Amino acid sequence: MDQLVIQGGRKISGIVSARGAKNAALPILFATLLSDRECTIENVPNLADISTTLKILRQMGVETTYDPTTRLATIRAKTVTSPIAPYELVRTMRASVLVLGPLVARFGQAKVSLPGGCSIGARPVNLHLMALEKMGATIEIAEGYIHARCRSLKGAEIEFPQISVGATENTIMAAVLANGRTIIKNAAREPEITDLAKFLNSIGAKIQGAGTATIEIEGVEKLHAGSHRVVSDRIEAGTYLIAGAITEGDVTVENIDEDLLGAFASKLRSSGCDLTKNGTGLRVRGARKILPVSFFTEPFPGFATDMQAQFMALLTMAHGVSVVTENIFENRFMHVAELLRLGAKIAVAGNKATIEGLGDSGRYLSGASVMATDLRASACLVLAGLAAKGETTVKRIYHLDRGYERMEENLTALGAEIRREKDPD
Ligand code: UD1
Repeated sequence: MDQLVIQGGRKISGIVSARGAKNAALPILFATLLSDRECTIENVPNLADISTTLKILRQMGVETTYDPTTRLATIRAKTVTSPIAPYELVRTMRASVLVLGPLVARFGQAKVSLPGGCSIGARPVNLHLMALEKMGATIEIAEGYIHARCRSLKGAEIEFPQISVGATENTIMAAVLANGRTIIKNAAREPEITDLAKFLNSIGAKIQGAGTATIEIEGVEKLHAGSHRVVSDRIEAGTYLIAGAITEGDVTVENIDEDLLGAFASKLRSSGCDLTKNGTGLRVRGARKILPVSFFTEPFPGFATDMQAQFMALLTMAHGVSVVTENIFENRFMHVAELLRLGAKIAVAGNKATIEGLGDSGRYLSGASVMATDLRASACLVLAGLAAKGETTVKRIYHLDRGYERMEENLTALGAEIRREKDPD
């Protein structure tokens, strides 16, 4: 297992480029199952979750190629020999459940392992299943697997009681080949949903309203070939902006539009940082005095739960008290215990974390060995390590590798002292 060793306290400055968004690439790669023609997907990040996705497609009999240098994937799902997503793969990546909609829509059946809980919460898939049932699918849960079947899906009106990114994506993918019109109400509005719809429309789907709370899909008989460039990763971009902010540095992230960042951008400004448009991207200049900021996580365009941990790292250094409320996942404060090991002052009560910034005390974070528990918690610990005095070792960074492409190389190029090594333990 690898670990990252960081000598903190250096200013992070320079230019880094945002890659394609993992959370857009995953549903788009699964959506290629809806067409029997070749789809070319550009800007696919070279990440562990992408390898898992391609593996799932390949073991279904789909032809895939991926070049990590050009980040180009070609997929042709001429047919599917086994419409199964097995436990061994689903347990490493919950997003595998996104094969359900496309498989049932095109082949009339799917067998997908139930994902089970994960470190940030229970994460049920009831909304995905509810939508498919409304479209006429029969769902059975047996031996840890979801068995979904349907001769031909029918358009339906689906109102989600709660906003879900994955359930919205699965429903869109099922609906593009269903008979008739589907209306999704209370749909997720994340940029990755808009990107999925853009790809599907480019290969012949009829989806309107993606990016708003109501999405209308007119089913079509067949989709054709096409190519698509994946939208930039707003979470990766946000993470590098915080790296600049937390070290009082000056970082430009190329290829990212402020509109993709939602409430994160205004909260970053509230912390005293200077965030401006710079060419195709955004530039942050860190403030000498980081101000406290309170926020709660919400679906887009609210503050993204996927940026909560990283922003909290910044707030540990603020001059004053911040309150962070996590509204999306019930157990997403695993990074707090590790931040405490670095000297942060944080108290958690239920879904609220109160962060007493070290700014006024004249104290700093100080390096220690910490353990990554999930993807964004890992990023939070790397950011805290950049700001901490002394050496920080972040263990179990396989989580980090699921969502960030060569983070240590990017940070080194920005002036950080960080290296990857084998964990001797
Ligand atoms: C996606 C993102 C993830 C992000 C999350 C919230 C991908 C691959 N992952 O995850 O990085 O943190 O959105 O922005 O895009 N829920 C149910 N029943 C369901 C589905 C969801 O109760 O059937 C609940 C979840 O437990 C959670 C909330 O709804 O509390 C939101 O989850 P959801 O938007 O579905 O997250 P994912 O799509 O899994």
